[in-house]
Amino acid sequence: MGLLKHLRLNPALKAQLDLLHADVHADSSKLAILFWLRAYTILALERNTVSIGWAKLSGFVSRTARDFGVNGLDHAPGRALLTDYAICQVTPIGGGAPVTDAAQLRALDLGRSYQIELRTAFQLDLARVHEWVVETWNGLIENDKPNALAGILARWAPVGQSGLLPALIEAQELEGWLSRETLAAIAQGLQVPLSQAYGVADFYAHLYTQPVGKTIIRVCDDVPCYLAGSADVLHRAKNMLWVRDGETTEDGRFTLEVVPCLGHCDRAPVALFGQTLHTQLTPEKMAALLRGET
Ligand code: FES
Repeated sequence: MGLLKHLRLNPALKAQLDLLHADVHADSSKLAILFWLRAYTILALERNTVSIGWAKLSGFVSRTARDFGVNGLDHAPGRALLTDYAICQVTPIGGGAPVTDAAQLRALDLGRSYQIELRTAFQLDLARVHEWVVETWNGLIENDKPNALAGILARWAPVGQSGLLPALIEAQELEGWLSRETLAAIAQGLQVPLSQAYGVADFYAHLYTQPVGKTIIRVCDDVPCYLAGSADVLHRAKNMLWVRDGETTEDGRFTLEVVPCLGHCDRAPVALFGQTLHTQLTPEKMAALLRGET
């Protein structure tokens, strides 16, 4: 993320994010707190709302927490996000005043009755918080790549061949693609032939054995999206990026892909920018997204 985007953050919010950043750097066990914030912004942007039920968020964390030994079943980091940093608040499901006081937050039985959201003054900054989290998260992964790969191998080596696909998926999250060195390390760690690791990586469309752009844009062109105008949206993206399907821009920022149904046909046409879903796209909206205006 460029300096300008940092400057556009609410200063009080930026101070809290800087504090979290410093804490995570000083104590790697706090990475799980950043993971919860990451999960929150992903869900909030996907659902186009700032409020996410605690049960929904903890379910998402438990399904996705796989890197760096983050324990997805442990709610303590999620609670620490609420109590140790003035970034988020909770509101009772069904209405009620937001709770921001740390002592009150500590005592709350979050259970199924509360939803988490950015503090009221920060809610317009949701997309920028997401950008900050993604950049911070990716930077930490980049710095800790050898350990992260070792962790993945330690997790999947005991199950051998049947751990090949999940190991490849997790390893790809480290660099965005699977280099020959990474494939060789996985093959060796799981004791499968390198050719088999390549075979699986080549078979699955979402696994890459060549470098891809920092952000992969996946534009759906299945029938409902096509009928809603996906061809025009795609045309605008290709013209602005100067790439064809499957190609990466010269500056390495974007890879453009055409994909089948993404499961959001009711809000067609849709596209994914990385993990962020954008719906009811028009060529103008796509252009604004590519210019970083939304
Ligand atoms: S057809 Fe595009 S999301 Fe289903």
